[in-house]
Amino acid sequence: MHPPTPTAPARPRRREYARILPTSDAPGPPRRHGGGMRQLTRPVRRGLLVLHVVVSVGWLGLTLGVLALGITGAMAGSAEEAGAAYRSMNVLGDWLLIPISLLSLASGIVLSLGTPWGLARHRWVYVKFWLTLITTAATAFALRARIDAAMADVVAGRAVGATTDLILAPSVSLGVYTFLTAISVIKPWGLTARGRRLRATKHR
Ligand code: HEM
Repeated sequence: MHPPTPTAPARPRRREYARILPTSDAPGPPRRHGGGMRQLTRPVRRGLLVLHVVVSVGWLGLTLGVLALGITGAMAGSAEEAGAAYRSMNVLGDWLLIPISLLSLASGIVLSLGTPWGLARHRWVYVKFWLTLITTAATAFALRARIDAAMADVVAGRAVGATTDLILAPSVSLGVYTFLTAISVIKPWGLTARGRRLRATKHR
C-alpha cells in the first residue's frame, strides 16, 4: 500500500475567483450576495460603471469650473467682469450641479448594491456613500443658495456679497471629490464589521 501522493490544492476556477474578488466580472447568471439586491449582469455593470465614472469625475471638473469662476468674480477689475463670472456660475448651478451630483450618488448606490462590493461591506464604499450624500446636500442647499444670492446682487446692480464663500465652498468640494476619486481607485481599509460578519456566515 502506498501512502496517498500529496497533491497541490486545485487553483480556483474563474467562477470561484468571482466569489472571492469583488472586482471581477463574474460570468454566469446574476446572483444575490448576503440576501441583498439582485446582482447586475456583466454588461449592465460595465455600462453603469462607465456612466458612474464619467458623471462622478465630471462633477469634479464642474466644481473646478465653479471655483475658477468664483476666483474670477472675486478678483474682477470691473462690475461687468464680475457680473459675467457670476452669471456663468449661475448657468452651471441651474443646469448641471444638482443632476450631476444626484446621478453620481444614484449610480454609485446601484453599483454598490448590485455588485459584491455592497453598500456597507467595504469601508471605502461606505465612506464614499456618506461623503457624497453630505456634499450633494451641501451643493443643493448651501452652494446653490450662495450662487442665487450672487446672481440677485448682479441683477440688482449691487456689489456681490458672498465672494469668499463662492471660493471656499468649491475648494472644499474639490478636495472631497479628489479624495473620493483616490479611494475609488485604491480601495483601501478592508471590510466593515458588517462585511466581516457576512463573510463569516458565508464560510460557516
Ligand atoms: C464624487 C463622488 C464619486 C466619485 C468621484 C467616484 C469615483 C469612482 C471611480 C473613479 C470609480 C472606478 C474605480 C475603479 O473601477 O477602479 C468608482 C467605482 C465605484 N464607485 Fe464611485 N464615485 C463617487 C461616488 C460613489 C458613491 C456615492 C458610491 C456608493 C454609494 C460609489 C460606489 C462605487 C462602487 C461600488 C464602485 C465599483 C463598481 C464596480 O467595480 O463595479 N461611488 N467610483
